[in-house]
Amino acid sequence: MSLLRPQDQALWAEARPFLDVRNNDEHTLVAYGVAKALLAQLPEAEEDVVLPAILLHDLGWKRIPPDLLLEAIGRNPTRRDLVFEHERHSVVIARDILTRHGVGRVEEILAIIDGHDTTYDARSLNDAVVKDADKGWRTTPHGMRIIRGWYDWSLAEYIDMVTVVSNPRLLTAPGKAMGEGFVASLRAELELSNYMETGA
Ligand SMILES: [Fe+2]
Ligand SMILES: [Fe+2]
Repeated sequence: MSLLRPQDQALWAEARPFLDVRNNDEHTLVAYGVAKALLAQLPEAEEDVVLPAILLHDLGWKRIPPDLLLEAIGRNPTRRDLVFEHERHSVVIARDILTRHGVGRVEEILAIIDGHDTTYDARSLNDAVVKDADKGWRTTPHGMRIIRGWYDWSLAEYIDMVTVVSNPRLLTAPGKAMGEGFVASLRAELELSNYMETGA
């Protein structure tokens, strides 16, 4: 079974040229996969809102100077203004794409894209699923590999970031379970040698 729904292929083709910065293309596809898994656990969430929103949520980074991107995110961001700015740009670009493709529920999708990083509460179940797919990406093998590479973080530093910055933002029960399971597995990995020494 392929990752993208047939009706999302055209949106992906439109989104791609905006996502070739900072691994946003890969981030978007992996977060889409996480969103599908969360949707399967949360039958009241609506894929026709969640999946277009996750596909188009980060288009606006393309309009932020690339040398400033890593200052807007990470453990101690200094350019939070750019986070608001990428959301506003994403809404403008996504509105154009959704309208041209005749996608329904445009305002609901755009309302989720607007504030996906800068609001912390669940404004609806659909909003919570998009937020958990986006932040939950950090608790995937792909997210860990990419983010550790950006900042040259050790495994312990990565666990600290996820524990302090990322997991507390997860909103749904399956999203929290994913995040906590991930951290628990990494912590166990760090302790493996304590239990595996011979002759001790
Ligand atoms: Fe974002
Ligand atoms: Fe994102």
